[in-house]
Amino acid sequence: MKAIVKSAAGKGIEVQDIPVPTPGPNDVVVDVAAASLCGTDRELYEWTPAAQAFGLTLPVVLGHEGAGTVTQVGADVTDLAPGDRVALESHLACGRCYPCRTGNAHTCDNTKILGMHFDGVFAETVAVPREICVRLPDSVSLETGALLESAGVGVHAIQRTGHAVAGRTVLVNGCGPIGLVIIQLSMLMGAAHVVAVEPNPFRRQLAEELGARAIPPTAELPQLCRELTGARGGFDVAFEVSGVNGVLSGLFESLRREATLVTIGHPGVQPTVDVAAYINKKGITWRGIFGRRLWDTWEDLLLLIDSGRLNLDWLVTHRLSLDSAEEAIGLLTGDANKVLLVPGLR
Ligand SMILES: NC(=O)c1ccc[n+]([C@@H]2O[C@H](COP(=O)([O-])OP(=O)(O)OC[C@H]3O[C@@H](n4cnc5c(N)ncnc54)[C@H](O)[C@@H]3O)[C@@H](O)[C@H]2O)c1
Ligand SMILES: [Zn+2]
Ligand SMILES: [Zn+2]
Repeated sequence: MKAIVKSAAGKGIEVQDIPVPTPGPNDVVVDVAAASLCGTDRELYEWTPAAQAFGLTLPVVLGHEGAGTVTQVGADVTDLAPGDRVALESHLACGRCYPCRTGNAHTCDNTKILGMHFDGVFAETVAVPREICVRLPDSVSLETGALLESAGVGVHAIQRTGHAVAGRTVLVNGCGPIGLVIIQLSMLMGAAHVVAVEPNPFRRQLAEELGARAIPPTAELPQLCRELTGARGGFDVAFEVSGVNGVLSGLFESLRREATLVTIGHPGVQPTVDVAAYINKKGITWRGIFGRRLWDTWEDLLLLIDSGRLNLDWLVTHRLSLDSAEEAIGLLTGDANKVLLVPGLR
């Protein structure tokens, strides 16, 4: 079968013909309907320091966002059967460490990641541990299923604020797919104002369509936020979703006292933060997230979609075949949002 393989430490990927996987006792074989790309795939292609920090098990089939139909189950799998439609959680938690045993499996000490430490979804078929399969309701298409891993990061970010976006002023720095989902959810949950910061006009347009006021990065951001919020003195909640270096001070400045900042982007350089000014004296709560909460993020996300309140289909701007994986990675930095690899396309 066809698969996109990272075979060596260095730049590049290969389209390879590899054997169809067979399931171990606890595995499920999934016929991949759609796999989604994200910035991490570009990092892995380029072999940046951030990519190297993931400690890949090479060679490995790439792809950590995907959904499909179960075709085969291992001997010990009793709760899934051929024909079931599943999306995949990309983080495989050990289930035994302290975080796992205390309800925080998203920060598992021994996390293994799909498409990094075991073969991923940029392939016609994948064999995965049963634990990472999430059964899809009939109302959720397989293509939407492929968007849930990344949309779940947005849901987790909002959960992390205690859903503090309702009736509040919200600042979103970066309108990639995750930032856009945070904007969509904030509007859905009743935010009073959402300001989005994004250099790419195509993505600013998407943010505006969701109801945000979208502006390019500017040193005037704190002043604008203070003008918009009057006596509040700044925004209630900010999300950092660009991963770009040097943006945090502007966000701390744009927030009111006792506000909340959630960082999602992983900056390449360790930032310097004025702890005395922002954390101590201004009283800002700074939190971060990694992946999705297991499994309440998935439950909340699926509930919103199944209820008809949340539709993610608009996120997809491109669909390409596995042969076009390199082209798909190139699209990520242009006028695109979610780019899908569809193994059924030739
Ligand atoms: N914490 C987690 O679990 C987790 C999970 C997935 C992704 N991430 C990270 O979240 C970030 C966003 O992911 P994505 O898939 O939406 O990625 P993305 O790279 O598509 O989006 C980043 C956006 O930030 C914009 N940007 C660039 N410079 C900016 C600036 N100065 N100010 C504001 N915006 C700027 C880019 O134009 C782009 O639209 C990435 O850094 C990614 O690595 C974190
Ligand atoms: Zn991803
Ligand atoms: Zn664990």
